[in-house]
Amino acid sequence: MNKIPVIVDCDPGHDDMMALVLACHSPRLDVKLVTTVSGNKSLELVTRNALNVLHYIGADHIPVAAGCDRPIVRRKDHAEAAIAELRRHSDSIENGAHGASGLDGFTFPEENPKKVIEIRAVEAMAQVLRESEEKITLIPTGPLTNVALLIRCYPNLISRIEKISLMGGTCQFVFTRPFMEFNTFIDPEATKIVFESGIPITMYGYDATYSVLYDQTVIDRIASHKNQTSYMVSELLKAFMYRHNNTFKWLGLTDTCPIHDACAVAGVIDPTLVTESKMLHVDIETAGNYFDGATVCDYEDILGLPHNVEVVYRMDNARFFDLMEECSARGK
Ligand code: RIB
Ligand code: CA
Repeated sequence: MNKIPVIVDCDPGHDDMMALVLACHSPRLDVKLVTTVSGNKSLELVTRNALNVLHYIGADHIPVAAGCDRPIVRRKDHAEAAIAELRRHSDSIENGAHGASGLDGFTFPEENPKKVIEIRAVEAMAQVLRESEEKITLIPTGPLTNVALLIRCYPNLISRIEKISLMGGTCQFVFTRPFMEFNTFIDPEATKIVFESGIPITMYGYDATYSVLYDQTVIDRIASHKNQTSYMVSELLKAFMYRHNNTFKWLGLTDTCPIHDACAVAGVIDPTLVTESKMLHVDIETAGNYFDGATVCDYEDILGLPHNVEVVYRMDNARFFDLMEECSARGK
């Protein structure tokens, strides 16, 4: 069976790390490019994290291009403002779910020979789309700034995109406010551009990602493999469980944790992992005072508008965790 050619656009982040391990070490995918976007942390930090993860797991052959260091319209400190809001929401721990480095819980080797390529993310994405014989699947796991600019700068290349499998948004799972999720909150205008592009979208929002909660048994299964990738993954999953559950205390999670971004990759590797999804009309709030970037899902089909997004609700947990273990074990 032919491999599926993909581009991963990310803001590592612990769950972005898991997404990269699945993408790079699944025999079903051919990762043509990894691009970075500011979101969880600054562009500098998330790019350093992406380079460290790819080098450490033995994926040096995959090019990395740095993207946008701020949302298209909103203030650059939007993420900090989001985290500050979360801290007002509950007595969260310092530096949020991903820590000061963006990948707290594991120390990568000081020296990393892997560097970003010369051209920026949007150009690099356009180059891959232009040169690929097959259509490319985009897998964004951070704010949609790079993807939106790709769509605006290269409209002639939209037909070269097979689909967008993204981690973002939420439908009926309320995190802090209805329809609010971090990635879409950071860059509402970019999200609106992508959701109105006409490109087929599968949305792995909080409904899906909070239905796949790993626990210590999953961490132990991964740690039982003695390769360095499995060790790194298990350490970061352990750290993320502590940080996530002590940042978003109102969720009441103690010994389980989501791995958001990995869902958007897993669904491309094996669509049968999606056990419940629905085509809905989804619009993005960009003018709201309270719901910036909200993915307003018409889940009762009241408006009778075109169903532009496949919203995922549930995934097969057992086979998802098998995939996490298999791909980690295939790493360096
Ligand atoms: O809301 C979860 C998303 O925000 C994930 O992509 C996580 O990495 C953060 O970027
Ligand atoms: Ca992310």
